[in-house]
Amino acid sequence: MMPPFNTIIGKDKLIAKDFLEKGELAAIPTETVYGLAGNALNEDTVLKIFTAKNRPHFDPLIVHTHSIEEIEKYVQAVPAKALKLMEAFMPGPLTVLLPKKTNIPDLVTSGLDEVAIRIPQHPLTLELLKSLPFPLAAPSANPFGYISPTTAQHVYDQLQGKIPYILDGGPCHIGLESTIIGFEKDNVVVYRLGGLPVEQIENLVGPVVVAPQKSANPHAPGMLPSHYAPKKKLIFGNTKALQDDSTDWPGGNKKGIIAFDTPVEGVSADNQVILSPTGNLNEAAKNLFAAMRRLDASDVDVIYAVEFPSTGLGRAINDRLKRASA
Ligand code: TXA
Ligand code: MG
Repeated sequence: MMPPFNTIIGKDKLIAKDFLEKGELAAIPTETVYGLAGNALNEDTVLKIFTAKNRPHFDPLIVHTHSIEEIEKYVQAVPAKALKLMEAFMPGPLTVLLPKKTNIPDLVTSGLDEVAIRIPQHPLTLELLKSLPFPLAAPSANPFGYISPTTAQHVYDQLQGKIPYILDGGPCHIGLESTIIGFEKDNVVVYRLGGLPVEQIENLVGPVVVAPQKSANPHAPGMLPSHYAPKKKLIFGNTKALQDDSTDWPGGNKKGIIAFDTPVEGVSADNQVILSPTGNLNEAAKNLFAAMRRLDASDVDVIYAVEFPSTGLGRAINDRLKRASA
């Protein structure tokens, strides 16, 4: 059993550093979502991460560090294509799967031979990482299966009492988890759509394979279809499906809507969250998880999400909404 903590939200990276050096956990800001961080090289600390999140041990953690030279300390080899992508997009919302060295505990990778590793692009967290003599293992700072946090307050709302410190770096700029890629022979495979659009990867290395994301996927045991989910029922589809559906719903069912740039007719404006009135997918991505949380905490009975255009970050937005509806 872990002792209950009097959780503090603050902006002091020295306090975060102090807890982390003592083997405790701290939530950290990144450009994607907040992470629940601990010393990746200390098994006792890594265990605390799984416990605080209520996360099954078969779901491996991403390791965070501050430079490509640091990454090379923890992986056996970096293929040429990987290096090209890492140099272009790190720091940034890209995670790479590479064969691990033995200094990364098996608990971090759930016994897999590859470690997921990334360099977050957030000034506070980069400075924190540079000041520490070890990398940080960090899953998203939410209870297992729930929506990822994009503000310090989101972390507090759910992990209060379970961790000593939340380093507040403001709202996350991207708002979707990192894109996870691996390398099979000489091919780039995308295992999780995320904050780095597939088009940007393809611009650099040519066409890539987007692997189906399900629990049966041996490369991504934690990518369960039902994930990133609010507690309320979420229905995901096009506006037409929503309008057809609404006629069937029993009277009194209060709908909440998540839509891209245009409100849905016939539903009260109070319960509609328009993620980007100007039609900007990056802005929509940034607002998505907060919108899901807001409607989950409101008095609506069902959340309806209207499908997004399938380009840029729209693909990852649709992926998250689809899983939230599973
Ligand atoms: O943006 C992000 O990636 C955030 C921030 C905090 O960095 N982190 C994040 O971590 O989303 P998490 O644990 O919520 O999701 C990581 C995913 C999991 O689905 C896990 O299964 C997969 O990465 N993963 C981690 N290590 C892996 C490995 N060695 N092989 C395959 N999949 C792995
Ligand atoms: Mg997560």
